[in-house]
Amino acid sequence: MDTLFCGFLVWLAALCGISAATPSDVEARVADLIEKMTLAEKIGQMTQINGAGGTLPDDMRARVRNGGLGSVLNEVDVEIVNEIQRIAVEESRLGIPLLFGRDVIHGFRTVLPIPLGQAASFNPELVRRGARMAALEASASGVNWTFAPMIDMSRDPRWGRVAETFGEDPFLTSRMAVAMVRGFQGEDLSAPGNIAACAKHFAGYGAVEAGRDYATTNIAEHDLREVHFPPFRAAVDAGVATLMTSFSDLNGVPATGNRFLMTDVLRGEWNFDGFVVSDWASIEQLVIHGVAEDARDAARQAVDAGVNMEMATPLYRDHLAGLIEQGAVDPAQLDAMVADILRVKFRLGLFERPYRNPSDFPATANDEHLELAREAALQSLVLLQNRDRALPLNRTELRRVAVIGPLADDEYEQLGTWIFDGDTSITRTPLSALRRQLGDSAEVEYVRAMKNSRSRSTEGFAAARDAAASADAVLLFLGEESMLSGEAHCRAEIGLPGNQHDLVRTVAGAAKDKPVIAVIQAGRPLTLAPVLDQVDALLFAWHPGTMGGPAIADVLFGAESPSGKLPMTFPKMVGQIPIFFGHKHTGKPPSAENFIHIDDLEERMVQYSTGLVASHLDAGFEPQFPFGYGLSYASFRYGDIAVSRTSMALGESLTVSATVENTGDVAADEIVQLYTRDLVGQMTRPVRELKGFRRVRLKPGQKTRVTFDLHSDDLAFVGRTMERITEPGVFHAWIGGSSDADLRVEFRVTAAKPEEGS
Ligand code: BGC
Repeated sequence: MDTLFCGFLVWLAALCGISAATPSDVEARVADLIEKMTLAEKIGQMTQINGAGGTLPDDMRARVRNGGLGSVLNEVDVEIVNEIQRIAVEESRLGIPLLFGRDVIHGFRTVLPIPLGQAASFNPELVRRGARMAALEASASGVNWTFAPMIDMSRDPRWGRVAETFGEDPFLTSRMAVAMVRGFQGEDLSAPGNIAACAKHFAGYGAVEAGRDYATTNIAEHDLREVHFPPFRAAVDAGVATLMTSFSDLNGVPATGNRFLMTDVLRGEWNFDGFVVSDWASIEQLVIHGVAEDARDAARQAVDAGVNMEMATPLYRDHLAGLIEQGAVDPAQLDAMVADILRVKFRLGLFERPYRNPSDFPATANDEHLELAREAALQSLVLLQNRDRALPLNRTELRRVAVIGPLADDEYEQLGTWIFDGDTSITRTPLSALRRQLGDSAEVEYVRAMKNSRSRSTEGFAAARDAAASADAVLLFLGEESMLSGEAHCRAEIGLPGNQHDLVRTVAGAAKDKPVIAVIQAGRPLTLAPVLDQVDALLFAWHPGTMGGPAIADVLFGAESPSGKLPMTFPKMVGQIPIFFGHKHTGKPPSAENFIHIDDLEERMVQYSTGLVASHLDAGFEPQFPFGYGLSYASFRYGDIAVSRTSMALGESLTVSATVENTGDVAADEIVQLYTRDLVGQMTRPVRELKGFRRVRLKPGQKTRVTFDLHSDDLAFVGRTMERITEPGVFHAWIGGSSDADLRVEFRVTAAKPEEGS
């Protein structure tokens, strides 16, 4: 229906003579407008203010009429949006339409899993479709610009904003970034239902010290270019219309005042021609950071760095005219910055179609959208433990099921962070889905047991114990409420909060030999050892969104096999953080043979002193669960890894392939992953790098060969002079179902073209 509907809109657009403007048309129109604009109107375009929440105060009307605004954020009452737009288009001198920005992060009315959960699907096409759905729903409310995708790289689950990321790996994040940009923007930004995307936060935000939001980041240029920049580069290459700065201080220069980031790299090296918006009040914060003397100086530094539009605060409005008059800002530079903003407005087709008519769009939360949300939730679920194949539960054998925990039936919490527009009335909770699926065949006893995930009271535990004791199976719905992750919601301890560990022990003790299944919803990786000890199976559901309930029920009862894989390493203990699969080898790499556990230390210290390695004595060197990990109801056997040739010259390609066989007894999806290692380089190289992944569906007994293309450019890295290079040498490649796959093959990259037949 989506496709049909879009086809109809394209036809309608053609009928009305609306078509995408060519780049040269756009540049001519931009230049023409700039020519006509007063300084005040230019500064107006560089100003964004917060909406008034479904009202239109007189001062806002006047500012729009005077050309004093370029954008409004957080106004989603479509009538107000259209009225503001009407004033801009019909009553302002030059009729320049406004951008209406909103955080459409993982859905709109229909909420998809948090981005970290979507990343667990390893399915960029699903992510693209989700963003497309969100764009259609948001468009109906007048939104034409979303502040997504968030593509900060973070290896620290204490940081609350990991929920908004696609996890720890730049390759996976880049693929998801491109998918989301395509989903929001489509092929042609001006086509109906497409909205401008915003890659954020440029750059380095995810490396905040100790995972404390807004804290300092210190990132060597090499790591910036190798880890933090690639997703932004991918988004820029995919045509992302805008970028947002970061709140954080990068190597002593806050990102919002950082010329290296926005001028040298973004414009100079990557040729970005869209625009950059500051984060909320982040220009003003240059004063608080202590790099700007006052508001005027902060405005000057932000312009100089390359921030086109100011979000929320009035520093540009108050100081830019004075800065121009005093010669502190070059008028030509200001023109160029305004041109970037106008270019995006033209590309969006706002001059041709400034208004939004909700009836032009499909109904929000329609069946198709709900089905997509269910599919996305389903593919995000990661099965972390399944002792004795406790899951799936056999529905026909159950007479009594205990459903226990604070997250079994909460319409709000399962939606996760950043869901301003999420509609809780359409949420399907796990409890409602379980009841629906079990019908009359089994009795469901529900005990919330805790008021919320942080509760310390044990008041509800007796009822939980009784329910567990008399049930055939116990389903525990645990985790973090949505407010425990997201912006400014960081945690120093990342186990289950409140008294949940006690609840698990109580319930597991009462259940005796009945299966105890934990379903955990959370906005980040958690330390799960105390739960894993007590339960038979553990399904990690992230915050799964509107349709989390049916997706979870389908997996618990085996209608579908879980298929998600971890996009972020799960540590055993907080002290291991940062722990991630793409670490360096070090000069003293750990292994099971030379690792000394703290308990053995007294005896073995002397004997093995030469074997001391880069690891923690009390935690070991392995995480609880590695990146890429996730179990299935099927089992998969990998074999016969091969390269199409053992050697390739620079500029050439080869393929790496392996067979994957479903040796289980159910059909299931598996995410096949390709990793490589460059054994010797002028810079130390990660022990493994993700280079490819593919979701394949296999029936029981079915075997397939999965083939990945690898070009020598795919093996490039940032060398000592900050240039991307591929060096000749020996490489290892692994194919498997997680980052600790052991099926390996070797190949060589040569400088010269290899001989025929090699
Ligand atoms: C966040 C951004 C967000 C903006 C607008 C800021 O606090 O850091 O990610 O887009 O608010 O809501």
